[in-house]
Amino acid sequence: MEAKMDGTKEEQQEAIKYYDKISGIYDLISNWYYKNARNYAIKNLQLKKGQTVMNLPCGTGVNFKYFQHYLAGSGLIIGIDLSSGMLNQAKRKRDRNAWTNIDLRLANATNIDQRWLQGLSEKKGQVNVDAIFCDLGLSGLPEWRRIIDNMISILRPQGRMVILDWYLEHSGMLAEFVKWIGKGEVDRPIWQYLETEISDFQVKKFGIFKGVFVASGTKEE
Ligand SMILES: C[S@@+](CC[C@H](N)C(=O)[O-])C[C@H]1O[C@@H](n2cnc3c(N)ncnc32)[C@H](O)[C@@H]1O
Repeated sequence: MEAKMDGTKEEQQEAIKYYDKISGIYDLISNWYYKNARNYAIKNLQLKKGQTVMNLPCGTGVNFKYFQHYLAGSGLIIGIDLSSGMLNQAKRKRDRNAWTNIDLRLANATNIDQRWLQGLSEKKGQVNVDAIFCDLGLSGLPEWRRIIDNMISILRPQGRMVILDWYLEHSGMLAEFVKWIGKGEVDRPIWQYLETEISDFQVKKFGIFKGVFVASGTKEE
């Protein structure tokens, strides 16, 4: 599920209202359709105990249990989203499981950069980001290139960047369906751009017509 994110201010507000509204049922779809892709993507973050992972946008926190498989309650998970409804679901998961290593922030993806991270470090003590996971967000944000650049800039050298999203080369029923159900885009060359920005690049496709990709790489020194 995606919604058109950003564009005009009105479109942005519409998208956030949409996610607020569906936040209670979001996991029903997200959990089953993306399960294999998520497993693979999060394995590719190469998380080790004590490390810090940033999840943008974190939505309802569907990834938290996967992160904890590697972190086992250690380190730090920074979850960022602009929908308070989605973040509330994430908070419920965190509190229900007594996961004390999760920091949730209501923020616009376009504002997450080195300055933002510096502000967070001033509140929490030095934060070094070892890995970043952007799942089902960039395809809805017209400023996706700038967001990828910002993500790479805040990642520590040798840190891991993983993106999970839609890419359908040809238009057709599936593309129309995905666009209709989520009001997002499915043809942004996101992984192709990441490939030019990062080393050890890999991409793998999942789902119907292999329309979901997981792209990963390592930030150079
Ligand atoms: C399709 S959901 C993906 C959530 C989660 N990453 C997942 O895979 O389940 C898209 C998310 O992007 C969030 N979002 C939309 N515009 C945003 C923005 N400008 N900044 C941060 N989050 C945004 C929505 O609130 C929503 O939670």
